[in-house]
Amino acid sequence: MKESIMVIGGGVIGLSCALELRQRGYEVTVLERNECGGQASGAAAGMLAPYSENVESPDEFFQLCLQSLQLYPHWQEEVKRISQMSFEYTSSGSLYVVYHEADLLALEGRLHWQRQYGSTGAIIDGEELFRLEPLLSPEVRAALYTPEESHLYAPDYVRALEQACRNAGVHIYDRLGQVDLLQWDSEVKVSTENGQHFQSDQLLICSGAWAQQTTEVLGLAFPIYPIRGQICAYDRKAHPIQHMVFSSQGYLVGKENGSLVCGASEDIAGFSTEVTERGIERLKRWNKKVFPKLDDMQPFHRWAGLRPSTQDGMPLIGRLSGERSRIILAAGHYRNGILLSPATAKLAADIVEKKDIAAYNLAFSPERFV
Ligand code: FAD
Ligand code: GLY
Repeated sequence: MKESIMVIGGGVIGLSCALELRQRGYEVTVLERNECGGQASGAAAGMLAPYSENVESPDEFFQLCLQSLQLYPHWQEEVKRISQMSFEYTSSGSLYVVYHEADLLALEGRLHWQRQYGSTGAIIDGEELFRLEPLLSPEVRAALYTPEESHLYAPDYVRALEQACRNAGVHIYDRLGQVDLLQWDSEVKVSTENGQHFQSDQLLICSGAWAQQTTEVLGLAFPIYPIRGQICAYDRKAHPIQHMVFSSQGYLVGKENGSLVCGASEDIAGFSTEVTERGIERLKRWNKKVFPKLDDMQPFHRWAGLRPSTQDGMPLIGRLSGERSRIILAAGHYRNGILLSPATAKLAADIVEKKDIAAYNLAFSPERFV
């Protein structure tokens, strides 16, 4: 019989790992403090944009993001099939806009290396650019068009993932309050705030921005911190756009449900998910620079989530060593956890199965800071 696996955290990462492990025949239990998808995963803009979010170089992080984008067409079909639920998944392509002649050089450099990694992008300007997005500001000098990038509606995707897990036979326990680690030597034992106990052969810690708290008892400091993202939505019908539009200051993405999502701040605010006037004003100032007509509109919805950021910007995905070796971490996906959901699920399941993951060992090892 295959081993039993417990997963702490019912966000996109915990649920994706749980689904993949269940598909590989494990007995899987997800333990969630509140509601599945109630934190960063439900707050996300849902962009699957490895090229626009990684502008520097094709490092291991970019490569994992790219691999995940390529897994998405099949993965999302599987989630829909198993859950019997639907969610928006749109191949919109993206435009990364710049305002100055001098910025073109950087775009060209980026396009040069991204073409070697599957992008069929191009730098476009003038009539061609305004034909793709007629409402763009005339101040926009040019854009890097990347047709490969897509997006989904994150709250529906996470609901479908949860349902897919349930239908596949994952045991999900939510509203447990804080889950605490009690033992991890001959087996793993945890207790919950509301007095329940669970045990398993292996444990996956997928508690997002709270991963440092969850692991404190292990006596190792994993540098994962919350970075608040404030985000808002306009009425897309009044301001239709077709592509995801990025600039160095933020992004806009139009959803099938009629919202035009615009994000997002990067604030240090502890574990607060409060939305501030200052944060939204900053987004509004930037929006009107990209799409001047948005100046006449007000966002109808504002919210915030806590991204799990790490000291070096890379996630922590790997098995701990020595007496803690029943524990695997999959956390710290910062701005790209939705994109990284299928690739993380496959990688974490390979780690559970003790397969060779040498390609990622060093870059994502949770103990690289110790
Ligand atoms: P979470 O979704 O935060 O889940 C962690 C879960 O663990 C929570 O449900 C929490 O309640 C639970 N938990 C914590 N501690 C415990 C405990 N002790 N016991 C039990 N349960 C516990 N990514 C993209 O790829 N594309 C985007 O467009 C995008 N846009 C974003 C926009 C915003 C505004 C924000 C905030 C994030 C965005 N992200 C995006 C990033 C993405 O949302 C995150 O990287 C991802 O959701 C992290 O998933 P997670 O499962 O690790 O964390
Ligand atoms: N990836 C978009 C964000 O984190 O805001």
